[in-house]
Amino acid sequence: MQKYLIKDLADFEGQEVTLLGWASNKRESKGLVFVVLRDGTGWCQCVISLDTIGETLFEEARKITLEASVSLTGLVVKDERQMGGFELQVNALEILGESADYPIAKKEHGVDFLMDKRHLWLRSQRQWAIMRIRNKIIFSIHEFFQSKGFVQMDAPLFTGNACEGTSNLFETDFYGDPAYLSQSGQLYGEAMAMTLGKIYTFGPTFRAEKSKTRRHLSEFWMIEPEMAFYDIFDNMDLIEDFLRSVVTAVLDSCEKELAIIGRDTAVLKNIIKPFPRLTYDEAVRIIKGEQDVNGQNSIVSLENELKAVQERIGLVQTEIAEREAKIKVPGMKKGEIGFNQAQIDKLKQELGDLQEQERNIPQWLNSARNFEYGNDLGGSDETVITRLFDVPIMVYNWPHEVKAFYLKRDPDNSKFARGVDVLAPEGYGEIVGGGERETNEQLLIEKINEHQLPMEAFEWYLDLRRYGTVPHAGFGLGLERLVTWLCKLPHVRESIPFPRMYGRLLP
Ligand code: 4AD
Ligand code: MG
Repeated sequence: MQKYLIKDLADFEGQEVTLLGWASNKRESKGLVFVVLRDGTGWCQCVISLDTIGETLFEEARKITLEASVSLTGLVVKDERQMGGFELQVNALEILGESADYPIAKKEHGVDFLMDKRHLWLRSQRQWAIMRIRNKIIFSIHEFFQSKGFVQMDAPLFTGNACEGTSNLFETDFYGDPAYLSQSGQLYGEAMAMTLGKIYTFGPTFRAEKSKTRRHLSEFWMIEPEMAFYDIFDNMDLIEDFLRSVVTAVLDSCEKELAIIGRDTAVLKNIIKPFPRLTYDEAVRIIKGEQDVNGQNSIVSLENELKAVQERIGLVQTEIAEREAKIKVPGMKKGEIGFNQAQIDKLKQELGDLQEQERNIPQWLNSARNFEYGNDLGGSDETVITRLFDVPIMVYNWPHEVKAFYLKRDPDNSKFARGVDVLAPEGYGEIVGGGERETNEQLLIEKINEHQLPMEAFEWYLDLRRYGTVPHAGFGLGLERLVTWLCKLPHVRESIPFPRMYGRLLP
């Protein structure tokens, strides 16, 4: 049987086609039923008219409920006003799968409810768009590396050693011995780079993050290239090329999806500009307000924003109170003013967002004012600094104590390690962590001891330094962090089909 897809309707204008899909919306008026059909490729308004279809089928059409699966056959008619530009004038239909009391109604649901219904929530237009953007990102990541001669490798997921610290390991039982779910494929990537020169991994990654933040998942996907004969500066050049290429691909081919989720792409288009490269020392001065960025001071701008938010909260609260006092009631006389509930709900939503900012900004201010030199950057610190930029920034040369054991000590100043983090703008923070690797076996052994890691589990890794070591570097991109930023999502949980995080294992 020929398959017709909504995305291809333009090819069938004036012809009869059968569409298979789900009713994402339905309304009735006299002698007419309107169904918005979705089939995974798009949405199409389908009109079922009593006059055309006759009594029996019309009664059947009236039984179509939200998210019922249906087959609709009809004439493809151009209609610019419709989403997708076409309408189906139905002359035959069949209900394939009923859907009684679909739990996600059009009214606003809380996020917890939607997360419990994630398997259904994914059918919404917004989630559809996010998943398509995620897909495009994945595809263009492979395209970028493959076109540059990188070989994809799969690192093991059961590992015998920690890579990124021991505090967030998931321990499992491996035939009676402890094994850990992989926190990173990097160490194996280093071994493979000594074989193939340039490799990348693309796999699931596990970290027990026992706190609820908007950036942390327990299971996420990481892309980790590793390159022989690269130093930290080559690495930064590659990161910049890579992110620019992926973001450009999304801008070029996901226009429709970005519009559906209401993403303002102005900031994303800045991706063509060079990414500022700041040393850790510079970044700290900026966070603490000791150094301005384009005339903007971190502390002063946050203080001003807090004031603006508080003023706006006052205004919105007054507006809500006024509208609630004059709410629209049935039977209102002509000329009488009545505000409708939807507008009030919208204001309440804005109020909620503002109140969240009112809670957040003082925390950011607090962490900026009290930042202690030498510490790692926390989520708030990243927010403070990235709000001042409209492109991703790279922060490199970190105090070696706060970074992973494998990073190369800066030859010019042994206080620092040659790590680099990329922080996304608009307050999103770290999306990439990486750096040049320590090649000196003795220094590595010291570090492994300092981090109290079991030496026997790292013997194989030390072999890489014993047998033909070379300068090498790499990085890890958190896929969901990138999706979250590109889609400007409030939380990382919407960036992956079925998120796994603290407090969430179902569905
Ligand atoms: O900075 P991280 O810990 O670096 C590494 O794992 C290195 N081994 C990478 C390398 O050099 N090959 O993690 C890399 C990235 C982070 O920048 C972040 O984007 C993401 O992985 N990430 C997480 N994403 C979601 N949830 C979490 N809990 C994450 N932890 C890290
Ligand atoms: Mg990191």
